[in-house]
Amino acid sequence: MTSDRISMVDMSAEYAQVGPAIEEAVVRVLRSGQYVLGPETRALEKEVAAHVGAPFALGVGSGTESLILALLAVGVGQGDEVITTPFTFFATIEAIRLVGAVPIFVDIEENSFNLDGTKVEAAITSRTKAIMPVHLFGRCADMVCIRKVADAHGIPVVEDAAQSIGAARAGRSAGNWGAAGCFSFYPAKNLGAAGDGGCVTTDDEGVYERLHLLRAHGSKERDEHLVIGTTSRLDSLQAAVLRVKLPHLDEWTAARARSAALYTEGLQGIAGLQVPNPGSDETPVWNQYVIRCENPEPIRKALSEDSIDWRHFYSKPAYLQPALGEFMLAQGACPEAEKRCEEVICLPMHPFLSEAEVRRVVETISKSIA
Ligand SMILES: Cc1ncc(COP(=O)(O)O)c(C=O)c1O
Repeated sequence: MTSDRISMVDMSAEYAQVGPAIEEAVVRVLRSGQYVLGPETRALEKEVAAHVGAPFALGVGSGTESLILALLAVGVGQGDEVITTPFTFFATIEAIRLVGAVPIFVDIEENSFNLDGTKVEAAITSRTKAIMPVHLFGRCADMVCIRKVADAHGIPVVEDAAQSIGAARAGRSAGNWGAAGCFSFYPAKNLGAAGDGGCVTTDDEGVYERLHLLRAHGSKERDEHLVIGTTSRLDSLQAAVLRVKLPHLDEWTAARARSAALYTEGLQGIAGLQVPNPGSDETPVWNQYVIRCENPEPIRKALSEDSIDWRHFYSKPAYLQPALGEFMLAQGACPEAEKRCEEVICLPMHPFLSEAEVRRVVETISKSIA
């Protein structure tokens, strides 16, 4: 069957809505002559902080750099241990290794795809210097449980909220639970720039000051370098683009939620298939809509044949990635994560998906199982 392609994301539909305002903002920045940090970045930082509900936000070069700088800012370094999830985009783990620390993998919950807070305490040692949950696919991890354990041991929490701006748990936003919340503005994220970008939120003035130093060569005054930092500053152009999009974020999240509800209505109850089931204390932002399938291959094949894009996030736990070398773990280390890696299919999800498109995806999946 040949039909119009249904894609995972649709950047051009987004641009059609906000393009003129973006073009105006870009010209404004080009004419201003201030291209790095400057008033646009400072304004965006204030607006993102307000959106997340955090006192401070700091724009950086990418989501990956937000994680690296946040780990450094809370004092993680060579040989320290960071407890995290194996079911994540590899950047989470790279950031830990790039500051010289060792990832300690704790399995995920059965239903949420997120770090299992009840298993964190058993993994804490005298070398544990941070706990790094990931709010995957737009769902906030069980931060009540994770914070309780972290606080009992005096360990800072660095949240990887790259996929989850606007998500919440128990009424509190992702990125506003720990010592630092890390966000990505990669174009396909719920709030995406026209290139790479990221930011860190925090309620800790000390962390905020250290992040300031770290993102700009450890320097406050010209020609004085207090710590070893790097170049990781959010461009004014990216900040200006993001400032146009941020006021639309809630409306775009609501559109994602409508598509998610339609998917769930159409797919729940099908034997061998599980739909996402966020708890009543969760506010998800649907960065991905991910189903779990006992027998995923026929579904993946049917989707491809019907020109429907899908993704396999993630096909293996991070500890099986060869880049980890001596820190790789044996197969079987985190059974829940490994099961999810086999079962998952990410379906098209973006604010401009039409009801007819969602229904076509549902129909293709239903037929492939019948
Ligand atoms: C969970 C997670 N962490 C970190 C990142 C890294 O963000 P960036 O691509 O902006 O460096 C991503 C990006 O996809 C991500 O999904």
